[in-house]
Amino acid sequence: MLAPGMPHPNPTGHDEGLAGHARAFVERFGSAGTVRLFFAPGRVNLMGAHLDYNGGPVMPTAIDRGTWIAARRRPDSRIVLASSLEEGERSWACAQLPERASGHWSDYPLGVIRAAQQRVGPGALGGMEVLFGGNLPIGAGLSSSASICVGTALLLARLLDLPFTPKDWVELALQAERGFVGVNCGIMDPHAIGLARRGELLWLDCKDASHAYMPLDSARLAIAVADTRVRRQLAASAFNERVAECRAAFESLRRHVPGATCLRDIPLEVLEAQRAELSPAVARRAEHVLREVARTFAARAALERGDVAAFGAQMSAAHESLRSLFEVSVPELDRVVASATAVPGVLGARLTGAGFGGCVVILLERGAAGELEQRVLLEFERAFGHAPHLELFGGDMGPREIGPA
Ligand code: GLA
Repeated sequence: MLAPGMPHPNPTGHDEGLAGHARAFVERFGSAGTVRLFFAPGRVNLMGAHLDYNGGPVMPTAIDRGTWIAARRRPDSRIVLASSLEEGERSWACAQLPERASGHWSDYPLGVIRAAQQRVGPGALGGMEVLFGGNLPIGAGLSSSASICVGTALLLARLLDLPFTPKDWVELALQAERGFVGVNCGIMDPHAIGLARRGELLWLDCKDASHAYMPLDSARLAIAVADTRVRRQLAASAFNERVAECRAAFESLRRHVPGATCLRDIPLEVLEAQRAELSPAVARRAEHVLREVARTFAARAALERGDVAAFGAQMSAAHESLRSLFEVSVPELDRVVASATAVPGVLGARLTGAGFGGCVVILLERGAAGELEQRVLLEFERAFGHAPHLELFGGDMGPREIGPA
């Protein structure tokens, strides 16, 4: 039964999860020396879908699932990275870090370590052994990659006494993903994680990275996440294709709007007047972006006047646009959104993350949790023959050291 305050079969308390993670570290690397423990959350985005790389506003919040990191300095200069999900380790001398990504998960922390080395100079890094783990589903749209990257930046700052601020963590994470791993990701995810505050949505304007916080009444409202367990192999290339389509729309339309620096700066009337310049698919992508910018401002205004029903309605409208105009939904996501939004007390629902599978984020009155669970699971199972994974998530603050083991 999905009810607020009920324990979940998966441990969500960081203390319990991290204690197990610390034991796994000692089993792998031995017990000599102090093991330090860190946590970096994942995120859900409530409004502003596919706007970050178009310079628009987004409204994400951190969740109480994320990456656990156990680490210890080494007396030599070797950097050793391991994951609790697999055997074996990757290791390199500090002075000989690989120049290129290898397609292995360790590219993410390695990209951060390389970016940090470029910033502070080769002599400032030292040897360390690090075990990554956590309770965030991977590839589900909850930003496991930014969580591991921002967590690595925090770890470097604390373990090696480097003077990195949360803004630096965000920059290092972005450098790693864009420059080393090679994903054209927007700025939302590392900001959502690095700048998170518990119980608040982050308002991030991706045009200039200015930000503010907006409280969400967590005594009254809850955030549920339904993982459809659909993972599209082509999700990364499809994401890059959407980025390219938005870029194409901007390059064409900017000629009509002097001073425009990103697609967000193009008025909807210009798109409507010049639609014939664009291929039908590119025009649909641009229409989603421009209408989503307006919806996100409307959602912010609704929250400011305490109208959570109007906020939720914008979330559901965003999903419809992601389905019909941006074309990043799949039938499993649509099914969850339709079932969830039919439940009294559910305020809104939409896919979160890039789409092509993954998760739906649902905003609900706490009292609606039981009926939500029943209805979503039953209708999904009837349609697809298996159940999605549905959980209420608590909010979380930003990445932090939890303490020595
Ligand atoms: C992915 C990207 C984000 C953002 C979302 C869509 O999660 O990592 O930067 O573009 O898709 O809103």
